[in-house]
Amino acid sequence: MIAKNQKGSGSKNFTIVCGENIGLTPVLGWNSWNCWGLSVSDEKVKASAKVMFEKLADHGWSYINIDDGWEDKRNGEGEILPNKKFPDMKGLSDYVHALGLKIGIYSSPGTLTCGGYAASYQHEEQDARTYAQWGIDYLKYDWCSYSQVAPPNPSLEDYKKPYFVMRQALNKNNRDIIFSLCQYGMGDVWKWGAEVGGNSWRTTGDISDNWGSLSSIGFSQDKSSAFSKPGHFNDPDMLIVGKVGWGPGLHDTRLTPDEQYTHISLWSLLSAPLLIGCDLSQSDDFTLNLLSNDEVLAIDQDALGKQARKMLEKDNWQIWVKDLDDGTKAIGIFNLGDKAGRETFHFSEIQLPEHLKIRDVWRQKDLGIFSSSFSGPIPSHGVLLLKVKTVL
Ligand code: GAL
Repeated sequence: MIAKNQKGSGSKNFTIVCGENIGLTPVLGWNSWNCWGLSVSDEKVKASAKVMFEKLADHGWSYINIDDGWEDKRNGEGEILPNKKFPDMKGLSDYVHALGLKIGIYSSPGTLTCGGYAASYQHEEQDARTYAQWGIDYLKYDWCSYSQVAPPNPSLEDYKKPYFVMRQALNKNNRDIIFSLCQYGMGDVWKWGAEVGGNSWRTTGDISDNWGSLSSIGFSQDKSSAFSKPGHFNDPDMLIVGKVGWGPGLHDTRLTPDEQYTHISLWSLLSAPLLIGCDLSQSDDFTLNLLSNDEVLAIDQDALGKQARKMLEKDNWQIWVKDLDDGTKAIGIFNLGDKAGRETFHFSEIQLPEHLKIRDVWRQKDLGIFSSSFSGPIPSHGVLLLKVKTVL
């Protein structure tokens, strides 16, 4: 594809893949939970959708996902009804689709969701039909009260069962619906999430907006790396940048700017779904810039769908390396320590060849050709995100 205007021209290769496997690259979207929690409403969803359309859609962002808090009771026929904060679910879905975006919803396999609302147990087919009628494109499916349905020490089959049931129910409708498993990694879900038809699966408990939570979740993802592939991704939970709050009152994320660069860099190296957790209608320029660096997003969206491996851990430093589709590699050098420092790494330590052409991805700047080693200053809790190409 070539585009031209008076400022010049640019070209990009597009690959079109058809078939049963959907969601070939990790979802780029927004989810209501980390900002609004159970206080989510139709207006709040529309406000973030509008900003995604205006400011982020051109960078590939496309899903607007409603988390827990939309449900009411079932009617006489057993159909799930939205509560009064969502007066017209089909209308909301039409609004989101008219912006060129997609819409997601949330439920649980037990009788109740984690927020205490009606969930899908024994209503799976009915709910899947309702979602399809509303035009839903994505379902996040939790665990919550399913522990009262499953036996006390669930076997692997018990863990898989509710997800099989719902995937099959979704498949009965003529609609592509992304299926996002949210059972916090139980039974090593990364080993079987794809088998039950999951497009992504949470590998951890809930994240919160502080360095302890971010770093303990983000840097412990090596275990699941072999299982990431197109259409099936590990999910270390949603983003905690911008204004978050898990309820009606929001606050600025407690992460420092450098911790936020680490967050987006690491999640991109992990091929994680990127689900923005802040109120987009209150987002500042820093947050929007963080979410619209195309070279960073391209690492997350790389067609190979591989997850980075932790190749080096030394003192407070970690180096993660991700193979990319064009034969280059993305590298994150992370300073987990409390002080700024300079890390020199030898290419042989992370199994790279002698001569490398190196690009700084956040700054979108070529740094030159380096032989044997590279050294860069990195702030406390910060990152250098590089793209490297072998020079023969
Ligand atoms: C949790 C889940 C959160 C959110 C919440 C809703 O189990 O991990 O991401 O969906 O339920 O009640």
